[in-house]
Amino acid sequence: MPELICVGCGPGDPELLTVKAVNAIKSAEVIVCPTSQEGKPSIVYSIISSLIEESKKPEVVNLVFPMVKEKETLENSWQQNTQTIAEKVLSGKKVVYLTIGDPYLYSTWIYIHRELQAKHPEIKISVIPGIVSMFTFASKVGISLAEGAETMAVIPSCYDLSRVKETAKNCDTMIFLKDGRYFDQVIKLLKEAGFPDSSIFAIGQDLGTDHEIIKKLTLGEVTKDTMTTKYFSIMVVKRA
Ligand SMILES: C[S@@+](CC[C@H](N)C(=O)[O-])C[C@H]1O[C@@H](n2cnc3c(N)ncnc32)[C@H](O)[C@@H]1O
Repeated sequence: MPELICVGCGPGDPELLTVKAVNAIKSAEVIVCPTSQEGKPSIVYSIISSLIEESKKPEVVNLVFPMVKEKETLENSWQQNTQTIAEKVLSGKKVVYLTIGDPYLYSTWIYIHRELQAKHPEIKISVIPGIVSMFTFASKVGISLAEGAETMAVIPSCYDLSRVKETAKNCDTMIFLKDGRYFDQVIKLLKEAGFPDSSIFAIGQDLGTDHEIIKKLTLGEVTKDTMTTKYFSIMVVKRA
């Protein structure tokens, strides 16, 4: 049966790949990587590039997933990209699809998986989980995301933030992903939801890369300068 393997490549540090991920990447004949713009290097490829042996160099296919919210554009890209992947798999080659972190958290893979199941049920799908960025961040700053009876919420900050306050009222740890440029909008909402100034506040940017920035302070100490300006950012606020 033709097979596609999706590989979760962790948050950026090449040493945070699982053994299974390394084996799948090393034996691939075609490596498919998502990118946000035509001609833009794929970030996920840069995580695994040191594993590629020149003598066995696989074909590398970059597929564009535009970072827009317009449904039709998104659906067209999912359909076209799925078709490209399916053709590679059905040609008999060993194909892997790479994702940052884990494939099932805010990943392009989720749409490819859905499309493949609908249009190409003849293709077997295997998924290798990856280390999630928010867990890497928790390890780096030494914060428990949840302990005992605590609850946590994961919020994509580039969408409607109107539900943040209600969620925060019932949560101990708030984890914000997807675009640090929106993070400052929620500080006031968290305070209004009852997060005291002494709550733990941590923010990280470009984790696992040479440009990594990490800050840990309290919610009351946060100023505009504390915030990040990058898409690859995580913010965690834990109720004191
Ligand atoms: C499209 S989501 C992918 C999440 C990924 N599947 C995971 O398991 O972590 C991209 C978001 O994940 C977070 N992220 C992933 N890798 C990161 C890194 N190395 N440094 C900081 N944030 C990261 C950021 O919030 C970024 O905007």
